[in-house]
Amino acid sequence: MDVSKIHGFNFPCPIRFGAGASKELTDYLKANKLSRPLLVTDGTVAELSFFKEIKNDLQQKGFSVEVFSEMHKNPIKSDVLKGGDAFHETGRDCIIGIGGGVALDVARAIVLRVNHKRDLFDYDDLIGGDKYVTEDVPHFVTIPTTAGTGSEVGRSAIISEDESKKKRILFSPKLMARMVFADPLLTMELPPFITAATGMDALTHNMEAYLAKNFHPMCDGIALEGIALIANSLETATHRPDVESRAKMLLASLMGAVAFQKGLGVVHSLAHPLSSLLDTHHGLANAVNLPYGMQFNYEGFEARFDKMADAFGLSKNNGNRVVDHLFEMNDRLGLPTKLSAIGVEAKHIEELSELAEADFCHPNNPKPVTRADFKNLYEKAL
Ligand SMILES: [Fe+2]
Repeated sequence: MDVSKIHGFNFPCPIRFGAGASKELTDYLKANKLSRPLLVTDGTVAELSFFKEIKNDLQQKGFSVEVFSEMHKNPIKSDVLKGGDAFHETGRDCIIGIGGGVALDVARAIVLRVNHKRDLFDYDDLIGGDKYVTEDVPHFVTIPTTAGTGSEVGRSAIISEDESKKKRILFSPKLMARMVFADPLLTMELPPFITAATGMDALTHNMEAYLAKNFHPMCDGIALEGIALIANSLETATHRPDVESRAKMLLASLMGAVAFQKGLGVVHSLAHPLSSLLDTHHGLANAVNLPYGMQFNYEGFEARFDKMADAFGLSKNNGNRVVDHLFEMNDRLGLPTKLSAIGVEAKHIEELSELAEADFCHPNNPKPVTRADFKNLYEKAL
C-alpha cells in the first residue's frame, strides 16, 4: 500500500485517505462555499499541536473558526445542547468533528440538533426516533484522530442522559459525514495503551460483525479484510509505530464500523456495562472480554472461525486456534487478560450481568445469550 499517496474512495461516504489528507480540508471547504466552521473536539485534542495547526491554517486562509470542546468523557445531552447553541450564536455554516469516538459522536449529535428542536431523545433510534429526522442538517466533515471506533463513517451517536447516564442512540442516514479526511499522520503520537486498546475495539467490531447473524455478505468481506489489516499492523503500531502500520489501523477501524452495520454481539454487551458501572475504557473492556466471548461463540460456527483464522494468518482451517491467538495478542500488546486486573470484583458480577442482558448488541450475536451465560462469562474472565 502506498500510503504517501492520498487516495479517494466513496464507501460508505466520500473518503480521502493517506498521509497528509487533512491538509485538503481548506480547499474542500472553499470548493463547497463554506467559510464559518464549528470545530468540535474534546478538551485533550484541542490542546494538541496538529489541532492547533488545522485551526491556524483555516484562520490564515480567511475562515472564521469557532471551537466547541465542552464535553464529558461519556458525553451527555447537555453537552450536545450547548454545542447546538454555539452553532447558532456564532453563526456557523458547517460542522467539522475532529477526534476519537466521543468527539465525533458529539459532533454528529450537534449536526442533528441544529435544526431539530424536539427533546434530543425523542430522536432515540430504539424508540423509532429517526422518523422525526426530517429537516436539513448542516454540512458535516469528520477527521478521525484515533483508530478504533470508526465513528467517522458512522451514522449514529451514543449520548447519555444527564442524570441516569443511560446511553441513548441517535441515528439517521442524514447524520453520515459528507466527507471524511482519514490522515494517519494525525494518529502517530497516540500512546501505546490507547493504540492497543482502541485497536482491539476495531478488531472486536470486525470479528463480531463477521459473526453477527444478519445476512450481509458485503459486510462479511469487509470484516475479514479488516481483521487481516489489524493482524499485521496492530503490534507494530503499538510498539514501533510507523506511517504504514498507523495507516492500516486507521483503515481497519473505519472498515470495522462499516461492517458492524450488520450488527455486533456478545463481546460488546459484556463490555458496555463495564464502562457504565466502572468507567472502564471501551477498547480495554472489549480487549479483555474478546477471547472469552469468542470461546462462547466457537461451537457451531467452526467454519466461520476457520475463515477468521485465515485472516489472522494462522494456518489453514485452524479456527480452534483463534481464541488462544487473541489471548496471546493481548499479552503481546501489554493488555490484561483478566477482569480482576481492571478493577472488577466478584460483587460486581450480578449487576454487570443484568446490564449486559439489557444491552442492545447481543440480539445480533450468532447464538442467543442468557443472563446466566453473561454471569458465566464474567466469572470465567474474572
Ligand atoms: Fe466498540
